Amino acid sequence: MNWQEFWNSKAAQVNPMDSVGRTVQGKAMSDLTLHKIADLIASQLHLQGQDQLLDVCCGNGELTLLLQKFGGQITAVDFSPILIEQAQNKHGSQINWHCADATKFDFNQQFDCILLYFSFQYFESNKQALAVLRNLSKHLKPDGRILIGDIPDAAQKSIYYKGFLAMLKSNYQRLLGKNDMGKFWCKKQLIALCKKAGLEALALDQQAWQPYANYRFDLFIQKSRRV
Ligand SMILES: C[S@@+](CC[C@H](N)C(=O)[O-])C[C@H]1O[C@@H](n2cnc3c(N)ncnc32)[C@H](O)[C@@H]1O
Repeated sequence: MNWQEFWNSKAAQVNPMDSVGRTVQGKAMSDLTLHKIADLIASQLHLQGQDQLLDVCCGNGELTLLLQKFGGQITAVDFSPILIEQAQNKHGSQINWHCADATKFDFNQQFDCILLYFSFQYFESNKQALAVLRNLSKHLKPDGRILIGDIPDAAQKSIYYKGFLAMLKSNYQRLLGKNDMGKFWCKKQLIALCKKAGLEALALDQQAWQPYANYRFDLFIQKSRRV
């Protein structure tokens, strides 16, 4: 099963938090936590006034919707037609919803801010990661800001998999194409890929209250300035 099939199948879950994998210790994430995450994202991106936001890998739009009060027009894109349809039906036309692959969409527009949250682990090779970073860069205004949030940290992988055997099992599942977590990224490697895409990235630790803070990090990114 590829990632697109995986997310299309998840979309059938009853709770919209389950449909985008937003669970904490097996339970759907609370509204309060999702609101706190949206507030934090808005401050990390310095979202304000009429800032135009592009939300990449937006899923069913539950998080996208909470960002509406902080800026101007939002465009949101995901490659699951089912999740995008749910977002459209539930959250309506105030947001521009698009079904497309993050490595390939072309909106012929540049944005003040770009968000790619809780999704970078699905770009599992350097080639895919570079393709998505280059596409984000292409859609970013010269002084714009990008937040890639909730990236699984390769240095903390043993915290997530809790022990050597679990780690071994995960590697085996990955070989069989049955991995449901995606890639744990090395901060340095990702920062170097950003540089290749003409972007300056800064790795940020998460705050202790964030649900996955012990094994995930964020990247704040701007376009590289040529001297
Ligand atoms: C864990 S959900 C995150 C949804 C939302 N960003 C959030 O934070 O709640 C991951 C989403 O990434 C989307 N996705 C994964 N790979 C993608 C790709 N190559 N292009 C577009 N969307 C992708 C999936 O369809 C899924 O909706």
